Amino acid sequence: MKRNANDPEWGIETLAIHAGQEPDPHTGAVTVPVYQTSTYEQDAVGQDRGYEYSRTGNPTRDALETSIASLEGGDFGRAFASGMAAEDTILRLLNPGDHVVMGNDAYGGTFRLISKVLTRFNIEWTAVNLANPTEIEAAIRDNTRILWTETPSNPLLSVVDIEMLASVAHANNAWCVVDNTFATPYLQQPLSLGADFVVHSATKYLGGHSDVVGGFIAMNSAELDEKIGFLQNAIGAVPAPWDCYLLLRGIKTLPVRMDRHCENAEKIVDFLKTHEKVIEVLYPGLESHQTHKIAEKQMKKYGGMVSFTVKGGEKEARRIVSQTKVFTLAESLGAVESLIEVPAAMTHLSAEGSPLEVDDSLIRLSVGIETAEDLLNDLSQALGH
Ligand SMILES: Cc1ncc(COP(=O)(O)O)c(C=O)c1O
Repeated sequence: MKRNANDPEWGIETLAIHAGQEPDPHTGAVTVPVYQTSTYEQDAVGQDRGYEYSRTGNPTRDALETSIASLEGGDFGRAFASGMAAEDTILRLLNPGDHVVMGNDAYGGTFRLISKVLTRFNIEWTAVNLANPTEIEAAIRDNTRILWTETPSNPLLSVVDIEMLASVAHANNAWCVVDNTFATPYLQQPLSLGADFVVHSATKYLGGHSDVVGGFIAMNSAELDEKIGFLQNAIGAVPAPWDCYLLLRGIKTLPVRMDRHCENAEKIVDFLKTHEKVIEVLYPGLESHQTHKIAEKQMKKYGGMVSFTVKGGEKEARRIVSQTKVFTLAESLGAVESLIEVPAAMTHLSAEGSPLEVDDSLIRLSVGIETAEDLLNDLSQALGH
């Protein structure tokens, strides 16, 4: 779906509410209707009114595709049933024998898909530290077709220079894919920095309410959009109309939610960095963070994810996460409620075999939009003195 022609005139807060979400032309309904239909009447054989079957196209999904493409500053967008379905669709552009370079801290599910599923189809991969251009250059081969990054990354919140990665990719006849799940288009727009594809787990901040699983791809090239559109229909991992509606509803408040996520995260970082039980706080907004300078260059603010290591190892980390009352012990991230977890024992398990070692005492917070003092008090009582 192509984005609205008037979008470039609008700010991101306006786009979040209106792009793709005009009043319904048939009834004037202000919210996008849920077109809960699998098929559409044809006026005569082969004469449909723009839609023939809902795997191929659905008006509620079209609205979502216009909405997210617009937020990403992309000309085209395609929605999927999950973030992994979106990732899989991009990776199916590859041919047997092609090679992918990815970050050694790629999301566990991405690592699992590439290293355990696609290798069966003769796709090759190398995982490197994407903060180091020399390592990237050394990993690139004649058959490299994709440089894949996630920035900030999970769970160490490292930031990769998107402009640098895109230019290395293009100099080597490869595509640059950026997973923008953690930052969202409100904080960072990879297409404007040269990325060929932006991919999302829309399950996270875009949806924002822990009530839907979804994925997305945004692009600027009509040729790539045509290829992705073909695969979207051919593979069929499309989102249901109701899920598209939930995502559209969540997106309307993305900018205000992100502001509060960032504000609360900064307060928590300030609290944790001087706490006696904390060894190290990982947050791209901290000047001491290894990749802070890059974050400063390409992000508007630093996001709602905070990781930290604690004294006392894994046992103490497990104790702390079971003591919180406002933070819920759960996987996933990016919704209004605050979540807490131990990546080494939870989310990082899907990355089995990955070169990234995650400290057993690392705790990851997805900072929600509750009252900051309640979050601080909760962490304080859980950490103890
Ligand atoms: C950064 C990132 N990318 C992709 C995914 C996969 O998305 P989904 O769970 O919607 O399939 C996740 C899920 O946690 C993620 O954190």
